[in-house]
Amino acid sequence: DLEMNLPEVITRALATASLPKRPQFGHKGTFGHALVFGGSKPFVGAPIYSAHTAFHCGVGLSTLVIPEEVYPVIASQNQTALVRTLPSESGHFTGAGVEEALFEKVTAVAIGPGMGRFDQGPELIRDIIGHLDEQPVVIDADGLFHVKDQLELLDRYKGPVILTPHPGEMATLTGRSVAEVEADRLDIAQSFASEHNVNLVLKGHRTIVATPHGTWVNPLGNDALAKGGSGDVLTGMVTAFLAQGAAPDDAMRAAVYLHAASGEQAAIDCSHYGVTPDDIIASSRKVLKQLE
Ligand code: APR
Ligand code: MG
Repeated sequence: DLEMNLPEVITRALATASLPKRPQFGHKGTFGHALVFGGSKPFVGAPIYSAHTAFHCGVGLSTLVIPEEVYPVIASQNQTALVRTLPSESGHFTGAGVEEALFEKVTAVAIGPGMGRFDQGPELIRDIIGHLDEQPVVIDADGLFHVKDQLELLDRYKGPVILTPHPGEMATLTGRSVAEVEADRLDIAQSFASEHNVNLVLKGHRTIVATPHGTWVNPLGNDALAKGGSGDVLTGMVTAFLAQGAAPDDAMRAAVYLHAASGEQAAIDCSHYGVTPDDIIASSRKVLKQLE
């Protein structure tokens, strides 16, 4: 019935309640270890933004897994994450080299930021998920492209799956046009989450959070967020909260609210024109300070 389809608004109070709790006696092991698979020759910034954001949102450890060939540039720009590499060719992953040792003590995994499209992508995603126990896995950007023809993989996985498509990526996942997605955002997000048993963040103005059990809508956010890299920051936020033990619906609500509120705060400080992903990350600490 109609009422079932109405989403709940993510208020400041709901976002606050959705943040993972931080025991005062915690050590870095308490707060989890986020692993981010991404990067390729054209997209060196994306995985750095995600891993760096995770660090700013409370994880104990953040590790980047990137193609070998882009190691020098990524490592030289990164100060917060550990960096591991996998074999690469033509500036992207080859699909080889995923090993058990990568996942030791890892509490949440993100796949996709800046990874680009390449033939072995679908196989790489299968291989990564096959190595996980039940850790939450976030799939974003071209990770979504590589998973679109094997969605049964997601339903079969024992742990939680969180997808963070923008409308174009949602169109790819559902085989619809962007216009169709935009015209019917709520219903499309709800049915996709139920049908594939996944947790979904459908991005854009008024971002929707959908799980098989409920839907929420984010009231915040503006044009300051409309810039390459801001999606990678959101991925880092969701992954950080999952890594700290938040349930998927909590992690998604806390992240989309924090992300949008941080964009608004950054626009106040740096103008709507001038906000960069680093400004969103910097502002997220101010916003977290108000929420914690
Ligand atoms: N109001 C509110 N939120 C907004 C607005 C707006 N006007 N514009 C953008 N956002 C938010 C979205 O909700 C989302 O959280 O900013 C983020 C943008 O994320 P993405 O679209 O994933 O952008 P990003 O990945 O950073 O950069 C674009 O994605 O399509 C690929 O290859 C493409 O490199 C490109 C990259
Ligand atoms: Mg994106």
